[in-house]
Amino acid sequence: MAVDLLLGLQWGDEGKGKIVDVLTSNYKIIARFQGGPNAGHTLVFNGMKHVLHTIPSGIFHEEAMNLVGNGVVIDPVIFKKELDKLSEQNIDYKSRLLISRKAHLILPTHRLLDAASETSKGKAKIGSTLKGIGPTYMDKTGRNGIRVGDLELQDWKEKYRALAKKHIAMIDFYNVKIDYNLEELETEFFEAIKVLKSIKFIDSEEYIYQSQKKGQSILAEGAQGSLLDIDFGTYPFVTSSNTTAAGACTGLGVAPSSIGDVFGIFKAYTTRVGSGPFPTELFDEDGAKIAKVGHEFGATTGRPRRCGWLDLVALKYACRVNGVTQLMMMKGDVLSGFKTIKVCTAYNYKGETITHLPYNIEEHNVKPIYTEFKGWKEDLTEMENASQIPQELNDYIDFLEKELEIPIKIVSVGPDRKQTIFR
Ligand code: GDP
Ligand code: IMO
Ligand code: MG
Repeated sequence: MAVDLLLGLQWGDEGKGKIVDVLTSNYKIIARFQGGPNAGHTLVFNGMKHVLHTIPSGIFHEEAMNLVGNGVVIDPVIFKKELDKLSEQNIDYKSRLLISRKAHLILPTHRLLDAASETSKGKAKIGSTLKGIGPTYMDKTGRNGIRVGDLELQDWKEKYRALAKKHIAMIDFYNVKIDYNLEELETEFFEAIKVLKSIKFIDSEEYIYQSQKKGQSILAEGAQGSLLDIDFGTYPFVTSSNTTAAGACTGLGVAPSSIGDVFGIFKAYTTRVGSGPFPTELFDEDGAKIAKVGHEFGATTGRPRRCGWLDLVALKYACRVNGVTQLMMMKGDVLSGFKTIKVCTAYNYKGETITHLPYNIEEHNVKPIYTEFKGWKEDLTEMENASQIPQELNDYIDFLEKELEIPIKIVSVGPDRKQTIFR
């Protein structure tokens, strides 16, 4: 049985959580394969809003099993908070949640290191979520990390002590002012570890293999977006994991040959939170309107998201890198009422017109070239089926499908589970 993937194609926050929730009824297992609590995946149903950071977005469905894969980095403290929220809503998460023994742990000192590194960079900071993501993946690839499976061994606290000691020395080396009380952080951490240990730890690659063999359907849930990929994103303004399709293979132990559909999610416009290049960013009334109507504030940090028009040059690149088979367009409702909608179809790159993403997309190098579309006036949020899509929006969708050569199968017209149009 093939494993389907669901990925963000932009700079994150495309609406992955919503669509995973919508699709979960088609799957037996939902598996997160990379990232950590830098993610904020929002689900809305029955008049309630839920934000998940580490836990897969299938957790609200009784029938689905949710796996935190080996490629994910887990902060026990944030994980505990997520579990507490689920308990408040009487969600029986223990029977639906599994954690890979090979997933790495974010230590309190990883968070401090993240803060020290960002502070030391000054204006050149990445705009990290300060969740300790970079330092944890550095320890993973540096072969110093502590994994979930280590918690079942006797000597893990010794390992912890040695690593935390090294981190403190590194923080001192940065020579920037970071206020912290390690004792308090550690008390909270060790309490949270106890809670983490109440969840079942498994050899997840074996579980995935056996589930595939039994014919169980699996959906791999991506975090962040393709332009934040450590290799293919706008480096160094990226996250520290492979957010693209290949990340699902290494982050779950799925063979490339068993990948099925690759669902690519994008907003009808573009947003970015944190620093880094963003060719179609708007600094005018249109940008402010998108931010306001789209409630563009980070689900994890609450920071305002930068907004701009859709960038087809970047979107095409993301579709290719991921091998996207089906597209899902989110937040079309936010563009209602715009007289003109613009799509960037090429870049003016150092005076030349190009249609591929160059190595360096710094603002002074790249100027977007736009194709304009007539906007639609209709409120889309009450729409129930594809026959109600206004002509102007259909024209927009047709254009994107033709350019990307991939069908747009879902048009999302509001945050709620129900506000989802299948085409
Ligand atoms: P994720 O990180 O990809 O899961 O996305 P986020 O949850 O961080 O951000 C998406 C935001 O848009 C959330 O607040 C969602 O509730 C909201 N959202 C998702 N789809 C739609 C949509 O079609 N229309 C509107 N207006 N909001 C949406
Ligand atoms: P979801 O899964 C949007 C951004 C940060 C920063 C950069 C590096 O909700 O789409 P990090 O904390 O990973 O070191 O930050 O990546 N970033 C995200 N932006 N959505 C996310 O996740 C993000 N996760 C990280 O803002 O620019
Ligand atoms: Mg998000």
